[in-house]
Amino acid sequence: MKIFLDTANLESIRKFNDMGLLDGITTNPSLMSKEGGNPKDAMEEITKIIRGDVSLEVVSTEYSGMIEEGKRLRQYGENVVVKVPMTPDGLKACKSLSSEGIPVNVTLIFSANQALLAAKSGAKYVSPFIGRLDDIGQNGMELIKEIKEIFEHYKDTLKTQILVASVRHPLHVIDAAKIGADVVTLPPAVLDKMLQHPLTKIGLENFLADWDKLKSGNPDIKI
Ligand code: G3P
Repeated sequence: MKIFLDTANLESIRKFNDMGLLDGITTNPSLMSKEGGNPKDAMEEITKIIRGDVSLEVVSTEYSGMIEEGKRLRQYGENVVVKVPMTPDGLKACKSLSSEGIPVNVTLIFSANQALLAAKSGAKYVSPFIGRLDDIGQNGMELIKEIKEIFEHYKDTLKTQILVASVRHPLHVIDAAKIGADVVTLPPAVLDKMLQHPLTKIGLENFLADWDKLKSGNPDIKI
């Protein structure tokens, strides 16, 4: 399963990329707004730091605006994936951009039918928002299972990848991997939690304390 980071924060992107953990990035207008400044600078920088796919989202809601913005976004780098909303105009833009070889991520997917239609329009990725479904008492992970089951039936012809979005905690990641989702996009805080385990921390503290004991009897020793 590929791991993308769901952020426009350059510091986080660099931090996790240096650990070799990132296969790509997803952003959206809310994440851009959170960072402030000129989003163009961030977009350009992200496409340089990350080799894998970088989803940058349009803000137009009608077809011609989406095409114009999508083409402009694509100029930031060959790894740019244009993110469009799951609307009739979004699907029309998805079809046009995909036909021109520009990959598209259809976002704000909340049902298997929407995922099926976005795939049909040529999307490289469909982004079901599981956390937001959980938030309203619907099981987001069930949606991933359903989309996976449907896409599996057509895997010879349908190349659309399931990009699990709106991830809230590490258990979402385990469950998505068990289902065989293609990609999860994670807020930096979730990736941070996945790195940690209390026994790792305690184990390291014990190793270092024992080493200090050895060193106190023989200060010249070195690794
Ligand atoms: O990138 C879109 C998605 O991951 C947003 O998540 O936490 O705003 O529901 P959230």
